Amino acid sequence: MAVQNTRFARRSLLFMPGDSMKKIQKASNWEVDTVILDLEDGVAQNRKVEARTTVAEALRTLDFGARERLVRLNHVNTGLPPDEIETTAGWRPDGYITPKAEDEADLRAVDRLLEMAEQRLGVEVGAFRLFAMIETARGVMNLKEIARATPRLEGLIFGAEDLAGDIGAVRTSAAWEVFYARSAVVTAAAAYGLQAFDMVFTDFHDAVGLETESRFARQLGYTGKTCIHPNQTAIVNRAFSPTPEEIDRAQRLVNAFEEQQVAGAGAFTFEGKMVDMPMVVAARKVLARAVL
Ligand code: COA
Ligand code: MG
Repeated sequence: MAVQNTRFARRSLLFMPGDSMKKIQKASNWEVDTVILDLEDGVAQNRKVEARTTVAEALRTLDFGARERLVRLNHVNTGLPPDEIETTAGWRPDGYITPKAEDEADLRAVDRLLEMAEQRLGVEVGAFRLFAMIETARGVMNLKEIARATPRLEGLIFGAEDLAGDIGAVRTSAAWEVFYARSAVVTAAAAYGLQAFDMVFTDFHDAVGLETESRFARQLGYTGKTCIHPNQTAIVNRAFSPTPEEIDRAQRLVNAFEEQQVAGAGAFTFEGKMVDMPMVVAARKVLARAVL
């Protein structure tokens, strides 16, 4: 059975380049669940150190309200994460993202660095949340060991662009070339009680395309989607929130189920279609999301 996840619900997660204080400052006004201060691919190689200082400064001085604040590190093999964590942890981001996660060792290495930072700061071990990006062929092959590597892991983020590069696929808007991996990530997340966040939609002028891709991700079971531009977050939030009609239908279905249980029927007809336990479980999930 998939493990139920009752952690903080995130629908939209917006990347912003860690070396742009201007962009980070604007985030405090937007309808976004999570801001991602990026130190990895959104930052040029020769600005990595500057970005680290800017991110620390942003965490220290800006009020993000209820928005979750995550820092995306570089991969542990670059040797950068020890300094990235050292510079930023004291300003208490909610957590960190480790990119291009390939195996359990990658996760354990970051986990150890976070634990050391927690001990240094005198905060509870496990306080910093962790998220892993799955965006290489190896990461997809090792999903199970990654998902179970550390209890501080809260979610998996699917990265389609890097994955396509890694496997030699050509990206298309239909995204069939990454469908296997996209589906594997959301399945592994459900199996191990993690949240799953869908790939970025790079054409930030195409609102209709973003909405279509977001709805499909939700159909697959994704709980949210990463964004690259502020004009994407409201569309994503809407797509990942149940509509009033969906909530109403789910409530009616659950009510009908409870009546049928009393009458002793497992399967029954609801609005012309057969309903049994799996549909009731799905309806309860809709209702759970509705109260978040
Ligand atoms: N975070 C915060 N602010 C952003 C933003 C983001 N991700 N993307 C755009 N903005 C701001 C811009 O600074 C601009 O502000 P202004 O009106 O005060 O000048 C406003 O929103 C409108 O932006 P726009 O002119 O439409 O886009 P742009 O040309 O400035 O930026 C990108 C386009 C793609 C460079 C930008 O959206 C971006 O940096 N995205 C994130 C990239 C990233 O982090 N990639 C790595 C993860 S995949
Ligand atoms: Mg990437």
